Amino acid sequence: MVLGNIPGAPVVDDPLALLRDRRSRPALTAPAPDRDVLRHLLTAACSAPDHGRLRPWRFIVVDDAARGSLGDSFAAAHAERDPSADPAELDRTRAKALRAPMIVIVVGTTRPHPKVPEWEQRAAAACVAHGVVLGAHALGFGAMWRTGWFGEAPKVRAHLGLADGEEVTGWIYLGTPAGAAPAPRPATEPPVTWLG
Ligand SMILES: Cc1cc2nc3c(=O)[nH]c(=O)nc-3n(C[C@H](O)[C@H](O)[C@H](O)COP(=O)(O)O)c2cc1C
Repeated sequence: MVLGNIPGAPVVDDPLALLRDRRSRPALTAPAPDRDVLRHLLTAACSAPDHGRLRPWRFIVVDDAARGSLGDSFAAAHAERDPSADPAELDRTRAKALRAPMIVIVVGTTRPHPKVPEWEQRAAAACVAHGVVLGAHALGFGAMWRTGWFGEAPKVRAHLGLADGEEVTGWIYLGTPAGAAPAPRPATEPPVTWLG
């Protein structure tokens, strides 16, 4: 089974460890999940809670070959937003697309619905995005959920082919973690009120 063969996948003897010990990995290198593994990962992430089964999300996958043109769209958007930006600044912006060997863009496709308000649909898309992050960790890959103004920039939106009303829920940077794993977050008491 392809998913069982991924080096670095954590051995799970404590089911909550996956949730508790997952950390974002800003430093990511090749390899990214291959197409087959990615399909399994995204399929699993789509099991997120989803009122009305509207599936108000879709994915855009940016692989190694597509990163350059995405970076160019970032730079073009930066130049449009700030015409005084110098070439070095634009290069730094362009390089943001190269921070990982793969980016999975989770796109929220919310639409008016008589019973399911748009905030619920957004929440479902966010659950999917976390599912991608968590599933990547479970498979031994690293991930980091990022956002930012690029998802609203017309030049980037045109490059991605986003329709009116679609929004970028998350840019999920994916790959093999580089460097030492960050320490787990210190355990803190959850802010719970028991209603009496
Ligand atoms: C909706 C959303 C957007 C985020 N956007 C960014 C971002 O643009 N840049 C960033 O450094 N972290 C961003 N984060 C936070 C990181 O994904 C990560 O959670 C944070 O760095 C803490 O690391 P940890 O997940 O290991 O605790 C975002 C998180 C969420 C849920």
